[in-house]
Amino acid sequence: MADLFRRKNLTALLAESAEQGEGTLRRHLGATNLVLLGIGAIIGAGLFVRTAAAAADSAGAAVTISFIIAAIGCAFAGLCYAEFASMIPIAGSAYTYSYATMGELIAWIIGWDLVLEYALGAATVAVAWSEYLNKLLHQMGFKEIPFAWCHSPFQISQAGEHGIMNLPALIILAMLTLILIKGIQESALVNAIIVIIKVAIVLLFIALGWQYINGANHTPYISQAFDYPPDANGHVKHFVGGWMGILAGAGTVFFAFIGFDAVSTAAQETKNPGRDMPIGILVSLAVCTVLYILFAHVLTGVANFKEFQIAGKEASVAYVIETYMQNYSWLATFVTVAILAGFSSVILVMLLGQSRVFYSMSRDGLLPSFFGDLHPTFRTPYKSNVILFGFVAIFAAFIPGEVVGDMCSIGTLFAFVLVSIGVIIMRKTNPDVPRSFKTPFSPVFPMLGAIVCGAMIFGLGWENWLRLFAWLIVGFVIYFGYGVKHSKLNKG
Ligand code: ALA
Repeated sequence: MADLFRRKNLTALLAESAEQGEGTLRRHLGATNLVLLGIGAIIGAGLFVRTAAAAADSAGAAVTISFIIAAIGCAFAGLCYAEFASMIPIAGSAYTYSYATMGELIAWIIGWDLVLEYALGAATVAVAWSEYLNKLLHQMGFKEIPFAWCHSPFQISQAGEHGIMNLPALIILAMLTLILIKGIQESALVNAIIVIIKVAIVLLFIALGWQYINGANHTPYISQAFDYPPDANGHVKHFVGGWMGILAGAGTVFFAFIGFDAVSTAAQETKNPGRDMPIGILVSLAVCTVLYILFAHVLTGVANFKEFQIAGKEASVAYVIETYMQNYSWLATFVTVAILAGFSSVILVMLLGQSRVFYSMSRDGLLPSFFGDLHPTFRTPYKSNVILFGFVAIFAAFIPGEVVGDMCSIGTLFAFVLVSIGVIIMRKTNPDVPRSFKTPFSPVFPMLGAIVCGAMIFGLGWENWLRLFAWLIVGFVIYFGYGVKHSKLNKG
């Protein structure tokens, strides 16, 4: 019987991370690239779609406080990621950190769990991309894509039409997969251009929207619970309100922060990971946190949060501009284009992260070797990219966006909990290994990271716990059927 808790030797890992030349990933990225990759992965559907939903359903104007709570959980976890990424700069990220600290079985669980974060994250945002494409076609006066071809079979329109598959989601995934195969340099360039566009649009919205803030919309800042009037079918929707509503809102907007950790999967493509990894992870997280709070403050200041219950929930920015900032209505179409681009960079970095985690897992023998095969010219894991496209495409084309979105959040939070615990273990087992970045106030900060992220998992509700559990069971079947036998550690 194999030792399920066998650990990967840290010296071997550090040697592996230092390998260079043919057959290894190309080291091209610097600190700026990493910060841009982080922002590229972070700002997306969470901000542009979920902010209005969290305000309308649970937190009201105090959705800014929800952002602060989610940011605190992410900051603790981000510090832990930064410590690990500076210490073990390898493409596997959380998966590799757990392999070195908690052993193979936990590493497998986390690697398998990261599929929820990266692959399902990409699928969720591809679905949102498809929605926004229709919005753009509408704004420009073109015919929208028929309901059946931009929705999953589980969705039915108000007119009773069934979805067949989400075709635009498939197309954007295919295009981004091709860029990823072409090279890390090309991917980083495309990402950088998009990040500039999307940050510019967020800043512009904040700056222009500020003068339209109506103080009455922020009074009271923390609203009490109430019921919305019944809809056409007689359904009454509850607004949660108060601190419970703020906490529920934090669970919803947590999705907006997912992605800073994807920076760590580019460790083997970074020129000076010891220095640049912490910068990439922490600076991207800090920049986005500030932008998010300001954005949410303006959004709920210009329009009243209750309006998002009936109008503009998915496309809140365009709604607010068209309704309240009519001097700038020309901006609405531009915003939609920028958001579409913004979603593309999220998908790009998520797919990048997933293929790098698979790359590491296959090099360790836990996945078949073709996941680690590099393209002879581009030096990217092209086979992995193609398989991943097929896998993500199934979710994006056939499963509704909200279901995959929450699975992505719970998977990510679970990874954050384990990485936080991993830092505490690593400080005990390998206190002397050099870390160019250290999480301050350890073990208090890592513990708080595990507790706050654990609380958010709790807040996601039993349906999502069940989905996570079912996902892990499938993972166990694969591990015990394949990984445990093929593990390189098994072969000594
Ligand atoms: N944080 C990413 C987004 O909001 C996943 O789209």
